[in-house]
Amino acid sequence: MDNSWFKEISVYQIWCRSFKDGNGDGIGDLYGVLEKLDYIKSLGVDAIWFSPIYPSPNADYGYDISDYTDINKEFGDLDIFKKVLNEAHKRDIKVIMDLVVNHTSDEHRWFKESSRSKDNPYRDYYIWRKGRTGGRRPNNWLSVFEGNAWEYSPETDEYYLHIFAKKQPDLNMDNPKVREEVKNIMRFWLDMGVDGFREDVITFISKKEGLPNGFPLPVATGIEHYRKGPHIHEYLREFRRDVINKYDCFVVGESPMTSWRDAVEFTSGEDRELDMMISFDHMSADCFIVDTLVLPFSLRKLKRVMGHWQHILHEKGWNALYIENHDHPRIISRYGSEKYRTESGKSLATMCFMQSGTPFIYQGQEIGMTNSSQDSMMNFKDVQTFNTSRVLKQFHIPEKTVLKIINRTSRENARTPVQWSAGKNAGFSDAEPWFPVNPNYTDINVEAQEKDPQSLLNYYRRLLKVRKENPVLIYGDFTEYYHLSGRLFCYSRSYKGKRALVICSFSKRELRFKTPKGFDLHEGELVLSSLPEAPLTTSGCVLKPYEARVYLFDFTNTGK
Ligand code: NOJ
Repeated sequence: MDNSWFKEISVYQIWCRSFKDGNGDGIGDLYGVLEKLDYIKSLGVDAIWFSPIYPSPNADYGYDISDYTDINKEFGDLDIFKKVLNEAHKRDIKVIMDLVVNHTSDEHRWFKESSRSKDNPYRDYYIWRKGRTGGRRPNNWLSVFEGNAWEYSPETDEYYLHIFAKKQPDLNMDNPKVREEVKNIMRFWLDMGVDGFREDVITFISKKEGLPNGFPLPVATGIEHYRKGPHIHEYLREFRRDVINKYDCFVVGESPMTSWRDAVEFTSGEDRELDMMISFDHMSADCFIVDTLVLPFSLRKLKRVMGHWQHILHEKGWNALYIENHDHPRIISRYGSEKYRTESGKSLATMCFMQSGTPFIYQGQEIGMTNSSQDSMMNFKDVQTFNTSRVLKQFHIPEKTVLKIINRTSRENARTPVQWSAGKNAGFSDAEPWFPVNPNYTDINVEAQEKDPQSLLNYYRRLLKVRKENPVLIYGDFTEYYHLSGRLFCYSRSYKGKRALVICSFSKRELRFKTPKGFDLHEGELVLSSLPEAPLTTSGCVLKPYEARVYLFDFTNTGK
């Protein structure tokens, strides 16, 4: 099945709980999504990715699933889901589901059975081990979210493995029955008509035999033994061969701690295991590996990483382009400037989505939602935030500083309710929202930006249209200019005689821009501009703070 259409689409991510409340209980739901389908369509996106909307005890807000073939009652039911799917399809919008199969919830029927006894038929669905002598755990692995990675179960006097929270036991993918279950889950949704999956931490599903001790780290000790485990290629190929290849769908795999080398392995060729990967390298341009270890933003670091992925994957694999999702703080507050919110929002969008790859836009990104500050730890709800606070306190960091770091780095910054209007609760809900609305909703909201042709929202619309209308922006190669500059991100894309020049300032001051050799801006067509006026000089232009422009050149008949 040729599914190469995934290269031409762009995707809008919905984290349902905070998207739009349609039934007045303060929690976003599928009724709210239904109301907003025309809005989503108006952005120019072609697909929706739903973060998990299945039944879940919410230990990790949906990423702990207790039933893979139903809908969380807080969000609706299968009937409303089918309606959303149908209405989305009517509008030519595809729908992909989050497939979370590295782990389940501990409240999943399989786990409840599995914990009962060692000879239960579901025992081998999970990873159970005896403790070591002296009451020690089976190995030294630490989880990503909650201290050690093993939880003791007195019923059978053994421990189960959980790479994430205690309530997220890891499935044993080495068990062929588990892989059959995964394939059945996929078929269930694909047969209903969904168009693919975003596969959660999919590269973690195979663990090294013998589960050896790992290199000690503050979190996730042992990761080297499962970040790309021994059978990962085999299992992903099996899923593709037995299911994915039989449907007109696509899969994007989340793959933390993987490199561009891995991306080529996973995403190239006819029999590729994943169509694209959600990688993380470019999300650490203002931190050291994880968001919490904050550093000043370095445009050079961002360019180095992004440029590398662009080159390596060209004509081999495919990139998933993103700078926001439900796991990271808002990008304007990180790589841009809250003072130059609209300007930097435009520059960031241009810089990212004019590259080669499939754009993924996270709810609220299109209006430039920013980080929000909580004045007490009591307001937070997320297991990862609590873990960060615990780890920071271990290093004797004072409480006030911990709160400051968390306010800047927590993924809950991305989970505040979407700001639809300047009205009550930002138009998100009539009832008290489940999580505090960012107080800046009176300035930043969809309703206000709809009316302003120069708003970020309307810029996103123009940008996606320009991308769709110009194959050079989809299939073109990537050449970077001024790579040493810490204030300018400039690159060109070339394809079949057409060239696009993408110019993005990351400076708070005016910036003199000299046209790179081989281009004359007077000969190009300005197809996208962040400002209504874009004056030129003989050799280039003077860019206003965070200005962004895209010029298109047609060399088809010039032989260049
Ligand atoms: C990655 C998801 O994006 C994140 O939100 C979740 O907490 C972990 N995987 C565990 O499922």
